[in-house]
Amino acid sequence: MQNFIYCNPTQLVFGKGSIAKLGDLIDKKRKVMLLFGGGSVKKNGVYDQVKAALKNHNTVEFWGIEPNPKVETLRRATAQAKKYKIDFFLAVGGGSVLDGVKLVAAAARYDGDPWDIVLDGKAKDSLDYACVITISATGSEMNNGAVISCEKSGEKFAFFTSKYPIFSILDPETTYSIPLDQLANGLSDIFVHVLEQYMTTINQSRIMDRWAEGILQTLIEIAPKVLNNKCDYAIRSDYMLSASLALNGMIAMGVTQDWATHMIGHELTAFTDIAHGATLAVIYPALLRAQKEQKRDKILQYADRVLHISGESEEIVIEKAIAATESFFRSLGLKTRLFEYGVDENTIDKIVDRFLERKSVFGDNNNIDAPIVKKILLSCK
Ligand code: NZQ
Ligand code: ZN
Repeated sequence: MQNFIYCNPTQLVFGKGSIAKLGDLIDKKRKVMLLFGGGSVKKNGVYDQVKAALKNHNTVEFWGIEPNPKVETLRRATAQAKKYKIDFFLAVGGGSVLDGVKLVAAAARYDGDPWDIVLDGKAKDSLDYACVITISATGSEMNNGAVISCEKSGEKFAFFTSKYPIFSILDPETTYSIPLDQLANGLSDIFVHVLEQYMTTINQSRIMDRWAEGILQTLIEIAPKVLNNKCDYAIRSDYMLSASLALNGMIAMGVTQDWATHMIGHELTAFTDIAHGATLAVIYPALLRAQKEQKRDKILQYADRVLHISGESEEIVIEKAIAATESFFRSLGLKTRLFEYGVDENTIDKIVDRFLERKSVFGDNNNIDAPIVKKILLSCK
């Protein structure tokens, strides 16, 4: 195991009725900005709960943070935050609203353009922020990462901010209104977050492997129930918590990580607008096929412990494990081939050109370069 420092200061406030605790969680002396997406919170009653809980607080509202949040929108939010001298931000919505808030909270302490912070990859300072998360996928509610797009340049990049959410409210009942396609995208995202940290090499850490395998097995068990049982509180509880545990650093202690699928997926979203979790379902099986020699031992461990495939030749077990992974995504109702989204070779070339220009290399061995990305994308065409 490699050396590491672990600290996750986010307070998780979990369970039905928890939004009512907002009034106590945020100091009344704070000038609070509430930030929302496109309006789902008005339809499912979350907005009313937030407003009731904060009825004695000083609040202003900002609406319209879109999925794959755009810096163009976040610049407007930052200007308002500065104008009203906001000192606490509350994201109410999905990972996109929360990621947007991470940038606004950082940009409120920065004199230049918010996009500089994204291009820099990290924020030096940030005001306090927290969230009521209404869709579980990104794990953003318990990490300091954010992914921001720029409409003008067609780019999408991750950055890390200097603060974690002060608290994150997770009420499983808020997820009852999530449409099926968004649930599928979310489950795919959670599953791949675990694999990005797990599918590297064996014998780095027994405890990290078992944590990761536990989350993967839980997801395989609950996914059909998440999709078919709309108001099953116990199942939605495990769904929500698996997203937070998948990307809060708990399964990444002292081990190498991959993240190549995410890097390719972000470019695919930037060029095509395919939802984040949906891009991963296409790319992950193809990446596993391309990397099956390098990841051989870990795929065999995953096949045995997570998928319970064994007893045949190693080659067949590996093929079956990759096919089972693709089947898992398809069982969520997701597509796993680019042609199903109408993505052609022209788009593949644009993505590869970008990686060539940036001289990008990804993966736990830093050996997934532009030509290998091309091979991966052509193989899931
Ligand atoms: O905008 P509203 O009207 O609120 O509707 C949203 C949005 O249309 C809707 N929704 C959310 N909660 C709902 C709901 N609809 C009904 N009922 C509810 N309870 O769902 C749609 C998608 O929301 P979004 O926030 O975009 O989804 P998600 O949480 O999957 O976030 C995706 C973004 O996060 C980034 C992705 O790249 C993408 O930009 N990621 C962030 C990460 C992080 N911060 O750590 C890591 C991830 O790998 C990921 O890259
Ligand atoms: Zn993701």
